[in-house]
Amino acid sequence: MRGDLELRKISISFGKEVVLKGLDLLVDEGTIMAVLGPSGCGKSTMLRVISGLIPQDRGKVMLEGKSIDHLPAHKRRMGFVFQNYSLFPNLTVTGNIGFGMRMMKKRKNEIRERSNELISLVGLSGMENKRPNELSGGQKQRVAIARALATYPDVLLLDEPFGALDAKIRKRIRRDLRSIQRELGTTTVFVTHDQDEAFEVGDQVAVMNNGVIEQRGSPMELYEKPRTDFVSRFVGNANIIELPGEVGRTVMIRPEDISLRKLEENSGEGGTKGRLVDLIQLGPLVETSVLLENGDTLTALMSRSEYHLKGLRKDDEVRVKVLKFRSFKDETRK
Ligand SMILES: Nc1ncnc2c1ncn2[C@@H]1O[C@H](COP(=O)(O)OP(=O)(O)OP(=O)(O)O)[C@@H](O)[C@H]1O
Ligand SMILES: [Mg+2]
Repeated sequence: MRGDLELRKISISFGKEVVLKGLDLLVDEGTIMAVLGPSGCGKSTMLRVISGLIPQDRGKVMLEGKSIDHLPAHKRRMGFVFQNYSLFPNLTVTGNIGFGMRMMKKRKNEIRERSNELISLVGLSGMENKRPNELSGGQKQRVAIARALATYPDVLLLDEPFGALDAKIRKRIRRDLRSIQRELGTTTVFVTHDQDEAFEVGDQVAVMNNGVIEQRGSPMELYEKPRTDFVSRFVGNANIIELPGEVGRTVMIRPEDISLRKLEENSGEGGTKGRLVDLIQLGPLVETSVLLENGDTLTALMSRSEYHLKGLRKDDEVRVKVLKFRSFKDETRK
Protein backbone atom coordinates (compact mmCIF):
# COMPACT_ATOMS: atom_id res chain seq x y z
CA MET A 1 0.00 0.00 0.00
CA ARG A 2 1.37 3.41 -0.91
CA GLY A 3 1.91 5.97 1.84
CA ASP A 4 -0.33 8.64 0.33
CA LEU A 5 -1.87 11.17 2.69
CA GLU A 6 -5.49 11.83 1.95
CA LEU A 7 -8.04 14.24 3.38
CA ARG A 8 -11.64 13.31 2.65
CA LYS A 9 -14.43 15.83 3.05
CA ILE A 10 -12.94 17.47 6.12
CA SER A 11 -15.20 20.00 7.86
CA ILE A 12 -14.62 21.98 11.01
CA SER A 13 -16.29 24.98 12.63
CA PHE A 14 -15.22 27.27 15.43
CA GLY A 15 -18.42 28.51 17.04
CA LYS A 16 -20.54 29.76 14.16
CA GLU A 17 -17.64 30.12 11.76
CA VAL A 18 -17.30 27.23 9.32
CA VAL A 19 -13.58 27.17 8.54
CA LEU A 20 -13.05 23.95 6.53
CA LYS A 21 -15.96 23.06 4.26
CA GLY A 22 -15.64 19.50 3.02
CA LEU A 23 -12.00 19.81 2.05
CA ASP A 24 -10.49 17.07 -0.15
CA LEU A 25 -6.77 16.71 -0.75
CA LEU A 26 -4.52 13.89 -1.92
CA VAL A 27 -0.78 14.10 -1.33
CA ASP A 28 1.17 11.44 -3.20
CA GLU A 29 3.68 9.48 -1.18
CA GLY A 30 7.14 10.99 -1.13
CA THR A 31 6.15 14.29 -2.75
CA ILE A 32 5.76 17.87 -1.57
CA MET A 33 2.29 19.34 -1.81
CA ALA A 34 2.37 23.12 -1.58
CA VAL A 35 -0.95 24.49 -0.34
CA LEU A 36 -1.37 28.06 -1.51
CA GLY A 37 -4.10 30.31 -0.19
CA PRO A 38 -4.84 33.75 1.24
CA SER A 39 -4.66 34.65 4.90
CA GLY A 40 -7.58 33.24 6.87
CA CYS A 41 -8.64 30.60 4.32
CA GLY A 42 -7.97 27.78 6.81
CA LYS A 43 -4.44 26.57 5.96
CA SER A 44 -3.13 26.31 9.53
CA THR A 45 -6.40 24.72 10.64
CA MET A 46 -6.00 22.07 7.94
CA LEU A 47 -2.47 21.24 9.16
CA ARG A 48 -3.66 21.04 12.75
CA VAL A 49 -6.35 18.57 11.70
CA ILE A 50 -3.82 16.45 9.77
CA SER A 51 -1.48 16.35 12.75
CA GLY A 52 -4.26 15.49 15.20
CA LEU A 53 -3.88 18.67 17.25
CA ILE A 54 -7.57 19.41 16.71
CA PRO A 55 -10.30 16.95 15.76
CA GLN A 56 -12.38 17.63 12.67
CA ASP A 57 -16.18 17.68 12.93
CA ARG A 58 -16.62 15.56 9.82
CA GLY A 59 -14.51 13.74 7.26
CA LYS A 60 -11.45 11.51 7.38
CA VAL A 61 -7.69 11.80 7.51
CA MET A 62 -6.15 8.76 5.80
CA LEU A 63 -2.57 7.54 5.62
CA GLU A 64 -1.61 4.52 3.52
CA GLY A 65 -5.28 4.03 2.77
CA LYS A 66 -6.33 3.74 6.42
CA SER A 67 -8.07 6.26 8.65
CA ILE A 68 -5.77 7.66 11.37
CA ASP A 69 -8.52 9.64 13.11
CA HIS A 70 -8.37 7.46 16.23
CA LEU A 71 -4.67 8.26 16.75
CA PRO A 72 -3.71 11.13 19.06
CA ALA A 73 -1.16 13.67 17.78
CA HIS A 74 1.85 12.05 19.40
CA LYS A 75 1.11 8.70 17.76
CA ARG A 76 0.72 10.05 14.23
CA ARG A 77 4.42 10.06 13.28
CA MET A 78 4.26 13.55 11.88
CA GLY A 79 6.80 16.35 12.10
CA PHE A 80 5.47 19.90 12.40
CA VAL A 81 7.29 23.16 11.65
CA PHE A 82 5.20 26.06 12.88
CA GLN A 83 4.45 29.48 11.44
CA ASN A 84 6.52 31.18 14.15
CA TYR A 85 9.79 29.94 15.50
CA SER A 86 8.99 27.56 18.28
CA LEU A 87 12.37 26.38 19.54
CA PHE A 88 13.06 25.75 23.20
CA PRO A 89 15.04 28.86 24.16
CA ASN A 90 17.05 27.19 26.92
CA LEU A 91 18.22 24.27 24.75
CA THR A 92 21.13 24.28 22.30
CA VAL A 93 20.78 23.41 18.63
CA THR A 94 21.64 19.80 19.42
CA GLY A 95 19.30 19.81 22.42
CA ASN A 96 16.41 21.12 20.35
CA ILE A 97 16.93 18.58 17.59
CA GLY A 98 17.22 15.71 20.04
CA PHE A 99 14.19 16.67 22.09
CA GLY A 100 11.67 14.33 20.45
CA MET A 101 14.09 11.43 20.52
CA ARG A 102 14.69 11.92 24.26
CA MET A 103 10.92 11.90 24.81
CA MET A 104 10.85 8.58 23.00
CA LYS A 105 13.62 7.31 25.32
CA LYS A 106 16.07 6.61 22.50
CA ARG A 107 19.61 5.66 23.44
CA LYS A 108 22.11 8.49 23.92
CA ASN A 109 24.39 7.26 21.15
CA GLU A 110 21.54 7.05 18.70
CA ILE A 111 20.35 10.56 19.60
CA ARG A 112 23.85 11.95 19.13
CA GLU A 113 24.31 10.23 15.78
CA ARG A 114 20.93 11.25 14.42
CA SER A 115 21.38 14.86 15.59
CA ASN A 116 24.77 15.12 13.91
CA GLU A 117 23.40 13.67 10.71
CA LEU A 118 20.55 16.20 10.67
CA ILE A 119 22.79 19.12 11.61
CA SER A 120 24.90 18.49 8.55
CA LEU A 121 21.82 17.81 6.39
CA VAL A 122 20.30 21.23 7.20
CA GLY A 123 23.66 23.01 6.98
CA LEU A 124 24.25 23.93 10.62
CA SER A 125 27.59 22.26 11.26
CA GLY A 126 29.60 24.27 13.78
CA MET A 127 26.48 25.66 15.50
CA GLU A 128 25.73 22.63 17.66
CA ASN A 129 26.11 24.46 20.97
CA LYS A 130 24.38 27.72 20.14
CA ARG A 131 21.06 28.64 21.70
CA PRO A 132 18.12 30.03 19.68
CA ASN A 133 18.82 33.67 20.65
CA GLU A 134 22.30 33.29 19.12
CA LEU A 135 20.90 32.21 15.73
CA SER A 136 19.53 34.13 12.74
CA GLY A 137 15.93 33.57 11.65
CA GLY A 138 17.03 31.28 8.81
CA GLN A 139 19.19 29.22 11.14
CA LYS A 140 16.34 28.87 13.64
CA GLN A 141 14.03 27.52 10.95
CA ARG A 142 16.73 25.04 9.89
CA VAL A 143 16.81 23.80 13.49
CA ALA A 144 13.01 23.56 13.48
CA ILE A 145 13.11 21.49 10.27
CA ALA A 146 15.80 19.20 11.67
CA ARG A 147 13.82 18.79 14.89
CA ALA A 148 10.69 17.86 12.94
CA LEU A 149 12.62 15.25 10.94
CA ALA A 150 14.54 13.76 13.87
CA THR A 151 12.06 11.00 14.69
CA TYR A 152 11.71 9.78 11.09
CA PRO A 153 8.16 11.06 10.55
CA ASP A 154 5.94 9.59 7.82
CA VAL A 155 4.67 13.08 7.07
CA LEU A 156 6.28 16.51 7.39
CA LEU A 157 3.96 19.50 7.88
CA LEU A 158 5.31 23.01 7.37
CA ASP A 159 3.21 26.06 8.17
CA GLU A 160 4.62 29.12 6.35
CA PRO A 161 8.01 28.28 7.83
CA PHE A 162 9.90 31.02 5.99
CA GLY A 163 7.38 33.85 6.32
CA ALA A 164 9.51 35.93 8.66
CA LEU A 165 12.73 35.67 6.62
CA ASP A 166 14.03 38.20 4.13
CA ALA A 167 13.72 37.46 0.41
CA LYS A 168 17.28 36.27 -0.27
CA ILE A 169 17.47 33.89 2.68
CA ARG A 170 14.00 32.60 1.86
CA LYS A 171 15.06 31.63 -1.63
CA ARG A 172 18.08 29.74 -0.37
CA ILE A 173 16.36 27.92 2.43
CA ARG A 174 13.46 26.80 0.25
CA ARG A 175 15.91 25.30 -2.27
CA ASP A 176 17.61 23.56 0.64
CA LEU A 177 14.27 22.27 1.87
CA ARG A 178 13.63 20.78 -1.57
CA SER A 179 16.92 18.97 -1.63
CA ILE A 180 16.50 17.71 1.95
CA GLN A 181 13.03 16.42 1.10
CA ARG A 182 14.32 14.74 -2.08
CA GLU A 183 17.03 13.03 -0.11
CA LEU A 184 14.65 11.73 2.57
CA GLY A 185 11.52 11.26 0.47
CA THR A 186 9.22 12.30 3.34
CA THR A 187 5.65 13.02 2.25
CA THR A 188 5.33 16.77 2.87
CA VAL A 189 2.59 19.39 3.09
CA PHE A 190 3.96 22.91 2.77
CA VAL A 191 1.59 25.79 3.44
CA THR A 192 2.21 29.29 2.11
CA HIS A 193 0.42 32.35 0.79
CA ASP A 194 3.31 33.16 -1.53
CA GLN A 195 2.88 31.98 -5.10
CA ASP A 196 6.57 31.95 -6.01
CA GLU A 197 7.28 29.89 -2.93
CA ALA A 198 4.51 27.38 -3.69
CA PHE A 199 5.68 26.98 -7.28
CA GLU A 200 9.29 26.58 -6.32
CA VAL A 201 8.78 24.14 -3.48
CA GLY A 202 5.78 22.05 -4.58
CA ASP A 203 5.79 19.00 -6.83
CA GLN A 204 2.10 19.73 -6.93
CA VAL A 205 0.28 22.85 -5.81
CA ALA A 206 -3.21 22.98 -4.30
CA VAL A 207 -4.95 26.35 -4.31
CA MET A 208 -7.10 26.82 -1.23
CA ASN A 209 -9.85 29.38 -0.83
CA ASN A 210 -12.50 29.77 1.78
CA GLY A 211 -12.10 26.36 3.42
CA VAL A 212 -11.80 24.19 0.30
CA ILE A 213 -9.16 23.22 -2.25
CA GLU A 214 -10.32 24.82 -5.49
CA GLN A 215 -7.76 23.16 -7.71
CA ARG A 216 -4.77 20.89 -7.52
CA GLY A 217 -2.15 20.41 -10.22
CA SER A 218 1.37 21.05 -11.36
CA PRO A 219 2.44 24.71 -11.30
CA MET A 220 2.18 24.76 -15.10
CA GLU A 221 -1.36 23.35 -15.11
CA LEU A 222 -2.55 25.88 -12.57
CA TYR A 223 -1.11 28.75 -14.53
CA GLU A 224 -2.27 27.62 -17.93
CA LYS A 225 -5.54 25.92 -17.08
CA PRO A 226 -7.14 27.52 -14.04
CA ARG A 227 -10.66 26.28 -13.46
CA THR A 228 -12.00 29.10 -11.31
CA ASP A 229 -11.83 32.90 -11.30
CA PHE A 230 -10.10 32.77 -7.94
CA VAL A 231 -7.34 30.45 -9.16
CA SER A 232 -6.80 32.60 -12.29
CA ARG A 233 -6.31 35.68 -10.19
CA PHE A 234 -4.38 34.13 -7.33
CA VAL A 235 -1.93 32.27 -9.54
CA GLY A 236 -0.27 34.96 -11.61
CA ASN A 237 -2.18 37.94 -12.92
CA ALA A 238 -5.20 37.67 -15.13
CA ASN A 239 -7.67 39.81 -17.00
CA ILE A 240 -11.06 38.31 -16.27
CA ILE A 241 -13.93 39.19 -18.56
CA GLU A 242 -17.40 38.04 -17.59
CA LEU A 243 -19.45 36.96 -20.52
CA PRO A 244 -22.98 38.32 -20.43
CA GLY A 245 -25.86 35.88 -20.27
CA GLU A 246 -24.27 32.86 -18.62
CA VAL A 247 -23.46 32.99 -14.91
CA GLY A 248 -19.86 32.05 -14.14
CA ARG A 249 -18.71 31.88 -17.75
CA THR A 250 -15.46 33.73 -17.93
CA VAL A 251 -12.74 34.59 -20.39
CA MET A 252 -9.28 34.83 -18.90
CA ILE A 253 -6.41 36.56 -20.66
CA ARG A 254 -2.91 36.61 -19.19
CA PRO A 255 -1.28 40.06 -19.45
CA GLU A 256 1.66 38.61 -21.43
CA ASP A 257 -0.77 37.28 -24.03
CA ILE A 258 -1.92 40.72 -25.08
CA SER A 259 -0.01 42.52 -27.81
CA LEU A 260 -0.27 46.29 -28.29
CA ARG A 261 0.61 48.37 -31.30
CA LYS A 262 0.58 52.09 -31.70
CA LEU A 263 -2.37 53.18 -33.81
CA GLU A 264 -1.45 55.60 -36.57
CA GLU A 265 -3.73 58.61 -36.76
CA ASN A 266 -6.59 58.39 -39.24
CA SER A 267 -5.44 54.99 -40.43
CA GLY A 268 -8.99 53.70 -40.45
CA GLU A 269 -7.80 50.38 -38.96
CA GLY A 270 -10.38 48.00 -37.55
CA GLY A 271 -10.08 45.66 -34.59
CA THR A 272 -10.12 46.40 -30.88
CA LYS A 273 -8.83 49.80 -29.95
CA GLY A 274 -7.92 51.38 -26.66
CA ARG A 275 -5.87 54.04 -24.95
CA LEU A 276 -2.72 53.35 -22.93
CA VAL A 277 -3.75 54.98 -19.67
CA ASP A 278 -1.01 53.79 -17.32
CA LEU A 279 2.34 52.08 -17.25
CA ILE A 280 4.55 50.68 -14.54
CA GLN A 281 8.20 49.65 -14.89
CA LEU A 282 8.76 46.26 -13.29
CA GLY A 283 12.50 45.71 -13.72
CA PRO A 284 12.86 44.01 -17.11
CA LEU A 285 9.13 44.25 -17.83
CA VAL A 286 6.62 47.00 -18.48
CA GLU A 287 3.04 46.61 -17.28
CA THR A 288 0.50 48.73 -19.05
CA SER A 289 -3.19 49.46 -18.55
CA VAL A 290 -5.32 49.85 -21.62
CA LEU A 291 -8.76 51.40 -21.51
CA LEU A 292 -10.93 49.86 -24.22
CA GLU A 293 -13.69 51.68 -26.07
CA ASN A 294 -16.34 49.66 -24.19
CA GLY A 295 -15.02 50.91 -20.82
CA ASP A 296 -13.14 47.73 -19.80
CA THR A 297 -9.54 48.02 -18.67
CA LEU A 298 -6.98 45.36 -19.60
CA THR A 299 -3.53 44.82 -18.19
CA ALA A 300 -0.85 43.96 -20.74
CA LEU A 301 2.73 42.96 -20.03
CA MET A 302 5.72 43.23 -22.33
CA SER A 303 9.48 43.33 -22.16
CA ARG A 304 11.18 46.70 -21.90
CA SER A 305 12.86 46.19 -25.25
CA GLU A 306 9.53 45.46 -26.95
CA TYR A 307 8.03 48.52 -25.31
CA HIS A 308 10.83 50.76 -26.60
CA LEU A 309 10.88 49.14 -30.01
CA LYS A 310 7.20 49.90 -30.48
CA GLY A 311 7.72 53.50 -29.40
CA LEU A 312 4.77 53.39 -27.01
CA ARG A 313 3.95 56.32 -24.74
CA LYS A 314 1.33 57.01 -22.13
CA ASP A 315 -1.96 58.25 -23.65
CA ASP A 316 -1.21 56.63 -27.02
CA GLU A 317 -4.09 55.17 -28.96
CA VAL A 318 -3.34 51.47 -29.42
CA ARG A 319 -4.53 48.46 -31.32
CA VAL A 320 -5.10 45.50 -28.99
CA LYS A 321 -4.52 41.94 -30.11
CA VAL A 322 -5.24 38.94 -27.87
CA LEU A 323 -2.73 36.18 -28.66
CA LYS A 324 -4.14 33.56 -26.33
CA PHE A 325 -7.13 33.28 -24.03
CA ARG A 326 -8.97 30.68 -22.00
CA SER A 327 -12.70 30.41 -21.61
CA PHE A 328 -14.20 28.39 -18.76
CA LYS A 329 -17.19 28.03 -16.49
CA ASP A 330 -16.34 28.61 -12.83
CA GLU A 331 -18.00 25.68 -11.07
CA THR A 332 -17.61 27.31 -7.64
CA ARG A 333 -20.09 30.00 -8.72
CA LYS A 334 -23.79 29.41 -8.94
N1 LIG B 1 -8.96 27.90 17.66
C1 LIG B 1 -9.72 28.72 16.95
N2 LIG B 1 -10.85 29.27 17.49
C2 LIG B 1 -11.62 30.08 16.77
N3 LIG B 1 -11.40 30.44 15.50
C3 LIG B 1 -10.30 29.96 14.90
C4 LIG B 1 -9.41 29.07 15.59
N4 LIG B 1 -8.40 28.72 14.74
C5 LIG B 1 -8.66 29.37 13.58
N5 LIG B 1 -9.79 30.09 13.67
C6 LIG B 1 -10.39 30.90 12.57
O1 LIG B 1 -10.36 30.11 11.41
C7 LIG B 1 -10.08 30.88 10.26
C8 LIG B 1 -8.92 30.26 9.53
O2 LIG B 1 -7.75 30.37 10.32
P1 LIG B 1 -6.36 29.72 9.90
O3 LIG B 1 -5.39 30.06 10.96
O4 LIG B 1 -6.55 28.30 9.58
O5 LIG B 1 -6.05 30.53 8.56
P2 LIG B 1 -4.72 30.56 7.66
O6 LIG B 1 -5.13 30.23 6.26
O7 LIG B 1 -3.67 29.72 8.28
O8 LIG B 1 -4.29 32.10 7.70
P3 LIG B 1 -2.83 32.78 7.74
O9 LIG B 1 -2.31 32.72 6.31
O10 LIG B 1 -3.11 34.17 8.16
O11 LIG B 1 -1.97 32.02 8.70
C9 LIG B 1 -9.82 32.30 10.77
O12 LIG B 1 -10.95 33.07 10.54
C10 LIG B 1 -9.56 32.12 12.25
O13 LIG B 1 -9.99 33.22 12.97
MG1 LIG C 1 -1.84 30.13 9.15
